[in-house]
Amino acid sequence: MTTTLHSDSALRDWNRRNVLAAAIGLAMLAPARSAPRSALRFRAWEAGESAAAGFGLRMSERPVTAPGPGQVRLRVRATGLNARDLSLLRGVRIYGSKDGPRRIPLDDNACEVLELGPDVSGLQIGDRVVCTHFPLWLDGAWDDATMSRMDFGVNTDGFLAEQAVVPARGLVKIPDDMSFEQAATFPNAGLTAWHAVVEAAQVKPGDTVVTLGTGGVSVFGLQWAKMLGARVAITSSSDEKLARMRALGADVTVNYRTNPAWHEAILDATGGRGADVVLNTVGIGELERSLMACASNARVMQIGANPVKRGAPAQGPGGAPMEVPVGLRDFPRGMIMRGLRIQGVIVGSRAMLQAALQAAALNRIAPVIDRVFAFDQAPDALHYMETGEKIGKIVIRVS
Ligand SMILES: NC(=O)c1ccc[n+]([C@@H]2O[C@H](COP(=O)([O-])OP(=O)(O)OC[C@H]3O[C@@H](n4cnc5c(N)ncnc54)[C@H](OP(=O)(O)O)[C@@H]3O)[C@@H](O)[C@H]2O)c1
Repeated sequence: MTTTLHSDSALRDWNRRNVLAAAIGLAMLAPARSAPRSALRFRAWEAGESAAAGFGLRMSERPVTAPGPGQVRLRVRATGLNARDLSLLRGVRIYGSKDGPRRIPLDDNACEVLELGPDVSGLQIGDRVVCTHFPLWLDGAWDDATMSRMDFGVNTDGFLAEQAVVPARGLVKIPDDMSFEQAATFPNAGLTAWHAVVEAAQVKPGDTVVTLGTGGVSVFGLQWAKMLGARVAITSSSDEKLARMRALGADVTVNYRTNPAWHEAILDATGGRGADVVLNTVGIGELERSLMACASNARVMQIGANPVKRGAPAQGPGGAPMEVPVGLRDFPRGMIMRGLRIQGVIVGSRAMLQAALQAAALNRIAPVIDRVFAFDQAPDALHYMETGEKIGKIVIRVS
């Protein structure tokens, strides 16, 4: 008869015995009553069927598997939600394979190393780590053809689970003073904003940076831009959220609901000059105003890109319909005359993630976490995300 073990302590105990067995060269130190690995299970939420009428998440049990060469097995301590997770779980976006209903969602993560596969060096059991968003993008320039083949929560199982097996080379150690909940906000929002502000736009002291909304990417954008000495303007649908942003260092705040021509407020606040950098975290619906908010030689970082099906309405964050502005057809001349640059930003490399974590630790930048939910409350966390009430990030504590 085999025993199924679910609890962390049983898993840790099993792991300790087997690590010890390996260390002293015994094939089997574990006592006869201990369960074989094949009987060990961990809990994982899976996406379920396309969930137009609900999130469809369902709890499953997965067998614990040994990490292969170059892999590690992780205990997931925290994960978190991003805008794309709503689109994926609502069926607005399509999972990357026929395994969609069994896919474990979410790319955000903060973990502890449980087991090392053969040939893995530089890591130890118990290390606190985050796994980068694209583990095939370690450094250098992005290549979609090769690097998007592993995209956690889309075409590869993600982190809404008690355990994960991932490539060791995608891991970055968590700075000592950073909690698992804080670290879990970096693989998607923190990294994307870092890529946009630091690497792509190369924000300098004195630049004016505009960032849209108070979601995960935008709030990190504000924090990174302030770290670099920029003057930051931020927009929101809520005056209360804008007050929070001022407390976080925002110099200019604009309510885009009561003031839809927010670009004019940016021009006013800069004496008519405009911004040096705009983080368009919304999408095509705000591209025209983003361009109109620009100073000469400004850079627009195109981050929000909810899919637009031919003939269907465009979507903003979370899949809400939005209008595509018609004025864009006149813009090429404006772009040329003002020397503007529009650059698409895709999350970021492992090297950027490492730099972002180190910068946050050195500069004491604490990610803005709105709420932390328990693992069993994952559907509640998604419903809360959908209300649009949150500021910054929603985190799920796994174990
Ligand atoms: N390119 C990439 O690699 C990449 C990476 C990460 C995210 N993204 C994309 O970036 C976008 C933001 O992601 P996220 O995770 O930060 O989203 P999020 O946390 O869900 O935040 C979305 C926020 O957008 C704001 N918003 C909605 N409509 C707006 C509008 N018309 N104007 C200004 N702000 C508006 C809202 O702010 P208020 O509540 O303050 O009104 C909302 O809180 C999403 O489209 C996501 O898919 C892209």
